[in-house]
Amino acid sequence: MRKQIAAANWKMNLTYQQGEKLLGDILKADNKLADHQQVIFGVPFPYLMMAGGAVTEENNYDVAAQNCYEKKSGAYTGEVSAEMLQSINVKYCIIGHSERREYFGETNQVLAEKLNRCLENSIIPIFCCGEPLNIREAGTQNHFVAAQLKQSLFHLSAEQVQSVIIAYEPIWAIGTGKTATTAQAQEIHAFLRSVLASQYSEEVADEVSILYGGSVKPNNAKELFGCPDVDGGLVGGASIVAADFITIIQSLK
Ligand code: PGA
Repeated sequence: MRKQIAAANWKMNLTYQQGEKLLGDILKADNKLADHQQVIFGVPFPYLMMAGGAVTEENNYDVAAQNCYEKKSGAYTGEVSAEMLQSINVKYCIIGHSERREYFGETNQVLAEKLNRCLENSIIPIFCCGEPLNIREAGTQNHFVAAQLKQSLFHLSAEQVQSVIIAYEPIWAIGTGKTATTAQAQEIHAFLRSVLASQYSEEVADEVSILYGGSVKPNNAKELFGCPDVDGGLVGGASIVAADFITIIQSLK
């Protein structure tokens, strides 16, 4: 049975002290997660060890980095490798967020390399895909996201792909307060799963958690997560407000 996941993406927000308090408040809420439910905090690099420490005693809570570099090691000042993340026990890493693609020029080819580095180091990638507004308006979003999967993911073995988490995040919905309707979300999530099924198999596609991201809020999470092919969410703005994220966690099916 695939996991239902509430993943927080703090982005470049919060001081260390604010982050520590936020984690404490969320963990205190005693969210009573079932075995198939998982909460992942995507925190800035300098907070990974603190956040990892905060969740060590907790079942079903874990920590993610928001990025890693595509090279193994070397003279890349300011970058962080997947091996470094593994060495501090980081189990997840967000890869290919649309902000990375847009502001840092990350291409599908670079992201394929980042996925390789994660998997070589036993880090589960949370691979983001999703179309910009003009593509949605032209009605070619399926073709667009299928190409993202094909170019970044399809060199992986069935076993590797099964371990990847996919986050579908339409760019027009990120930080805009505009959410995909449940019908739009279900349709494209089912499409993504069918793309995985035709490249690999139904069984493999069935195992992959596909999260929705883009203005997930306490008042829409339950409806979105209720869609059969939506396995939780990758949450930005609402993940840095304790009460909001707690409600979103409790909306997992
Ligand atoms: P948002 O961000 O929830 O603020 O729209 C989601 C994301 O960028 O992962």
